[in-house]
Amino acid sequence: MKAEKTGSRFELGMIGLGVMGRNLLLNMADHSFPVAGYDRDPAKVNAFLKEGASHDVSGSSDLAAFIGLLKKPRAVMMLVPAGLAVDSVINELLSFLEPGDLIIDAGNSDYKDTDIREKALYAKGIWFMGMGVSGGEKGARYGPSIMPGGRPEAYERVRPILEASSAKVKGEPCVTHIGPGSAGHFVKMVHNGIEYALMQLISESYDLMKRGLGLGNRELEQVYKDWNKKELSGYLMEITGEIFGRKDPETKKDLIDEIKGAAAQKGTGMWTSESAMELSVPTPSIDVSVAMRNLSVLHDERSIAKSNLPRPLVSFSGDCGEFVKRLESALYASMLLVYSQGMALLSVASSHHGYGLDLEAIARIWRGGCIIRATILEDIRNVYRRSPALPNLLLDPAFSKIVADHQESLRSVATEAIRMGIPVSAILSTLSYLDAYRSEWLPSNLIQAQRDFFGSHTYERIDRTGVFHTDWDES
Ligand code: 6PG
Repeated sequence: MKAEKTGSRFELGMIGLGVMGRNLLLNMADHSFPVAGYDRDPAKVNAFLKEGASHDVSGSSDLAAFIGLLKKPRAVMMLVPAGLAVDSVINELLSFLEPGDLIIDAGNSDYKDTDIREKALYAKGIWFMGMGVSGGEKGARYGPSIMPGGRPEAYERVRPILEASSAKVKGEPCVTHIGPGSAGHFVKMVHNGIEYALMQLISESYDLMKRGLGLGNRELEQVYKDWNKKELSGYLMEITGEIFGRKDPETKKDLIDEIKGAAAQKGTGMWTSESAMELSVPTPSIDVSVAMRNLSVLHDERSIAKSNLPRPLVSFSGDCGEFVKRLESALYASMLLVYSQGMALLSVASSHHGYGLDLEAIARIWRGGCIIRATILEDIRNVYRRSPALPNLLLDPAFSKIVADHQESLRSVATEAIRMGIPVSAILSTLSYLDAYRSEWLPSNLIQAQRDFFGSHTYERIDRTGVFHTDWDES
């Protein structure tokens, strides 16, 4: 590529050339878009220019020079850590940008911040899009799932570049305009909430097979690789199989056994739970997965509790092969129930926040590129194709039949886990979600009565409409 590396002609500029920003920009360059990069650190700019040398790319560690490279009206994307860094980049940019220019925040920002930023920038004539990008480093480089929110006119300006660089499934790009304002970041947040729950469920299946059945890493590798060939297939299952096969180059031991059981988090799972609580949508599998990450880091407390609360694991006495089959079926049901919770949250958020979400399109763009991509999403997409306004996937007869067909495995795996003493919080809360959701009667009549008893909060009745109060002290 002999093009001049200067001139105000580059179609998109990226601020932040860390691994995600650099990879996404190189991906765009691969698709023949002239793009420019900026990073305060000249070494990162040079690394990007070197890697993109065969493409039409440019870059600078001087913000004014970088802005000068961009075609007007400008499109500036940023991939910087969520929070204060985003505001500080926006503030710096404001002295260079002009009305009609577009800023895209492609990080995992809190959707509430995105709404504030979008409104404030729009008042200054600057377009702003909050855009979720999923797929990690490789996804960014070779095709992520992209969830752009904001004004549709803004999306139209960058649609060709986003469609070209997104993952493709059966020829369809894994990107669509998600909705106005913070819709893109909200949907990415729920994607991550689902991600937390799926990861927790898989880790519980690992515990059941490792400490319960006594399977070794080679056997675990095989189990997850087998599962990934069938209905459970998906990215998280695929990498799980690979993880169990990996050796630590230093110690030559299995790497998984050298990794501490304390999982970090950046907050998107917690935000999903918070939003679900704010919108009164039950997402117990996600909530408990956040809680289990919090419990996982209490390593020191757990080692004290180990001696205070001794109880050896009860050994498994059944047929291992048969249990692994049941576990596969239980995991499948659980995963369907996790997607049900996440999609139900999106359905409520759509009307509450005025996002106008197209749930079929969201399932479609999650089939490729993103961390929660899985075969299951094709079925989910088909449900919303049939019934776009469905409040919960479990209200679709065909979808709920699949869950019903697997529910006894889920129940028996949960029972066995309790018997052995293996913690399976996500499996248990997912099963309880199922049992509660399909129960027309719940014991919450008692809670109504208790509230009215101690606080005169009133209650509703089954035989009459209205609210009622009883003087409970009267006998
Ligand atoms: C993705 C990932 C990505 C990131 C998570 C990790 O979709 O590509 O979800 O966004 O890896 O932020 O989140 P935690 O650090 O909270 O686990």
